[in-house]
Amino acid sequence: MGCEGEKPPPSPPPPGGGGVGGGVSAPLTLVVGAGTCGLSVGAADTLRALHAEVARRNLPARVVAGGCNGMCWAAPVVTVLRGDEAPRVIPRVTVAQAAALLDAVTAGAPREHAGVAGFLAGQRRELMSRCGLMDPGDIADAIRLGSYEVLKRVLGEAQPERVIETIKRAGLRGRGGAYFQAALKWEGARRAAGPIKYLIVNGEEGEPGIFKDRHLLEGDPHRLLEGALLAAYAAGASRMILYIHGEAHLAARHIERALAQAAAAGFVGERVLGSDFSVAVELRRGAGGFVLGEETALMESLEGRRAMPRPKPPFPTESGVHGRPTVINNVETLFTVPLILERGAAWWTGLGGGHGTKVFGLSGHVARPGVIEAELGLTLRDLLERMGGGAPDARTVTTVALGGPSGILVPPRRFDEPLVPGGNPNPGTGGVAALHAGVPVAEAVRVLLDFNTRESCGKCTPCREGTARLRDMLDGRAPVDRQAVAELADVVRVASLCGLGQAAPLSILSALSEFPGEL
Ligand SMILES: Cc1cc2nc3c(=O)[nH]c(=O)nc-3n(C[C@H](O)[C@H](O)[C@H](O)COP(=O)(O)O)c2cc1C
Ligand code: SF4
Repeated sequence: MGCEGEKPPPSPPPPGGGGVGGGVSAPLTLVVGAGTCGLSVGAADTLRALHAEVARRNLPARVVAGGCNGMCWAAPVVTVLRGDEAPRVIPRVTVAQAAALLDAVTAGAPREHAGVAGFLAGQRRELMSRCGLMDPGDIADAIRLGSYEVLKRVLGEAQPERVIETIKRAGLRGRGGAYFQAALKWEGARRAAGPIKYLIVNGEEGEPGIFKDRHLLEGDPHRLLEGALLAAYAAGASRMILYIHGEAHLAARHIERALAQAAAAGFVGERVLGSDFSVAVELRRGAGGFVLGEETALMESLEGRRAMPRPKPPFPTESGVHGRPTVINNVETLFTVPLILERGAAWWTGLGGGHGTKVFGLSGHVARPGVIEAELGLTLRDLLERMGGGAPDARTVTTVALGGPSGILVPPRRFDEPLVPGGNPNPGTGGVAALHAGVPVAEAVRVLLDFNTRESCGKCTPCREGTARLRDMLDGRAPVDRQAVAELADVVRVASLCGLGQAAPLSILSALSEFPGEL
């Protein structure tokens, strides 16, 4: 059926922008990065100023509110798109600079900041290729850039099993942190008995230090929708729930608008594009809390109960939301799906040593914090220094908190080790927070344990009591009793019901082994 291999693998994106040029169709387009990060530092004012200045000068140009292109460090960012020229990214365009930017644009090419090329060097922007270069509120723009083409082709060929086969060969592993094979979930749900099955998009992302899914949703909601529709089709799901974090208002607004547009265009609803595939899609918001992102707790919340994880088995593919077979996938996982089906399994396995690309959220003590997509197998040093531009002042990075509150603390001597799923260090959900010597390791561990203690749903004693005791062990005057910590951490890891408790001791365990003198 040609789920793959129909197009040659695209060449890497040009420097200065992602893999697509000229997202919006106008001879001159100025895309203002109006994602959450940009808006918090004045992107809305920049947008208004550019609109006014373009009108005043009677310029034949479009000013568009785009998503963030990942350069949170440079916000408010404006990307200049003109004909076939490579996109030009202009950082920190405040209201005061709006007129000067237009002068430079009309005079020729505005100069790009050196940091832009540095930030993009070494990245491989595939999932993010359109973020910040298109109008996320305009389905016409997404369609012009190829959205829903794969869906049309796949539905026309009517073989969900081939979709599963292609994704299986690509070895796509879930980006929600556990790296479970996406195709196996879809196959499980497809084979499960029952007339009604669900596909849930997990857009909860409730932990500190992780913000990549929000960026993807804000920047390119139609790519998410197409991926989710393809997954639902493959898994035999006729119901889809888009579950978005309760405070991710912009992401929710963009996805809600995209959904309405997709429904009006016939990509969602009864007999999609005249095929036998029907899917009802609903947008739901989380009410806050890290544990809500855990798949079974999320399902409890959907059913109107307190968000407490359920024991497994049964696994969601057998009995999930409302007792129906359910697939739950992370936003980033689903973003990958249209790309693999368009370009083929071999394209994906040819990236990142067979693991593809990964989206990272880089924050903390670096010159260029933001959202980065790169081939797996890269190192923390690549992220911190090559893309992140190194420390912003004389204080060097002495610790990385990798993977958020479920992750580990990594010392500089391990910054050159490749990040590979299931490896050590494990990229996890892709949160990379750089800390300098002014943040003692013990303090970092305390913050992480404190967070997990607060967020524990309280259902099981080892997590509820044990995580708090591990934190309290740090508060004594004496050095930490390594033996006591190791024993308690083991109990919490093994006896906790869900991933929150199972991973909560990782920060203190990694601190003990990697920073022996620091606790
Ligand atoms: C405490 C906790 C929080 C989680 N939060 C999220 C989340 O915000 N988003 C997410 O996709 N997965 C989260 N997960 C993982 C989900 O349970 C599930 O594995 C994931 O949504 C499956 O999608 P994937 O296979 O595409 O990765 C969390 C797990 C735990 C234990
Ligand atoms: S491990 Fe913690 S968060 Fe998970 S079910 Fe048990 S108490 Fe709740």
